[in-house]
Amino acid sequence: MILSIESSCDDSAISITEIATNRLLFHKKISQELEHSIYGGVVPELAARLHAEALPKILEECEPYFEKLKAVAVTSSPGLAVTLIEGVTLAKAVSVGLDIPIIGVNHLIGHIYSLFIEKETIFPLTVLLVSGGHTQVMEVKSLTEIETVAKSMDDSFGESFDKVAKMMGLGYPGGPAIQNLAKEGARKRYDFTVPLLRTPKFAFSYSGLKNAVRLAVAEASEEDYKDIAASFEHIATKHLIHKLKKYFLNYPPKTFAIVGGASANLYLRSQIEELLKPYGAKLLLSDLHYCSDNAAMIGRVAVDMYKAKMFSSLEELNVVAKSNL
Ligand code: KG4
Ligand code: ZN
Repeated sequence: MILSIESSCDDSAISITEIATNRLLFHKKISQELEHSIYGGVVPELAARLHAEALPKILEECEPYFEKLKAVAVTSSPGLAVTLIEGVTLAKAVSVGLDIPIIGVNHLIGHIYSLFIEKETIFPLTVLLVSGGHTQVMEVKSLTEIETVAKSMDDSFGESFDKVAKMMGLGYPGGPAIQNLAKEGARKRYDFTVPLLRTPKFAFSYSGLKNAVRLAVAEASEEDYKDIAASFEHIATKHLIHKLKKYFLNYPPKTFAIVGGASANLYLRSQIEELLKPYGAKLLLSDLHYCSDNAAMIGRVAVDMYKAKMFSSLEELNVVAKSNL
């Protein structure tokens, strides 16, 4: 079995995964959403302190598995440096204490592997990762062959939902709140410009849309918020669809996946389904439960890394806040 730790942002999570079967034997996550909500976003130092409290508590519950552990895995990049270090320090203590090897896992690969929790892997696939920290498209051939073909030049898709929600006083995280409000709104009422419409570059940008929404919110009354939310969600999604449609002209999809916290967005899911129809491409989605940060996905990567003997050295495993895939 492998014990895996995730603390890259505001979720403290630990899992136990069985190597031979990919079975998830234990998973517990303590989210800090309530604590950060009043600030409208994650406060790194507060998050680090909460991880320091939560992780050892969850680890205690894993004691019955200690004897059977073959390795300990931990998210070491990318993420908030001060929160990653909490997980990495604990993982190093487990590694020394139980005399087992340590595996440093990339959080973005974790999101890709959220598709394969308790399952076999399916490769090759084209992946759209939409989270709070990232918006990128990747061609994934295997655990070690991942090519990023497009990413955001500024804000991420999820982050733009968080910022728009903050403007409307809806708290953090903004994604679910905006999705809920948008259900009752008119998607065409606000004619926001689709980002990067005239640039041929395969890339994303959300800062312009965010600023357009800020102006609309400033002039609106609270009754208009649902229409702003619906129009924003529509254009934010249309931007992804527009860029993917162009990419597919040269690289038609066969198996496509959406992962990351914002892949829980139902409007995005339905629009991607429509986009894939003419290609007869298969759409892979993670369980709603495992879209946002969790340790089950880190454990699933760790199983494949263990089998490939991709261990880290205790001395050299460090946190890397920014990492390119
Ligand atoms: O993957 P994740 O848990 O953390 C990162 O790795 O960043 O993603 C969190 C992000 C937040 O920005 C949150 O607002 C967004 O995912 N999110 C959503 C939805 N649910 C979560 N965005 C849009 N629609 C949703 N339903
Ligand atoms: Zn994440």
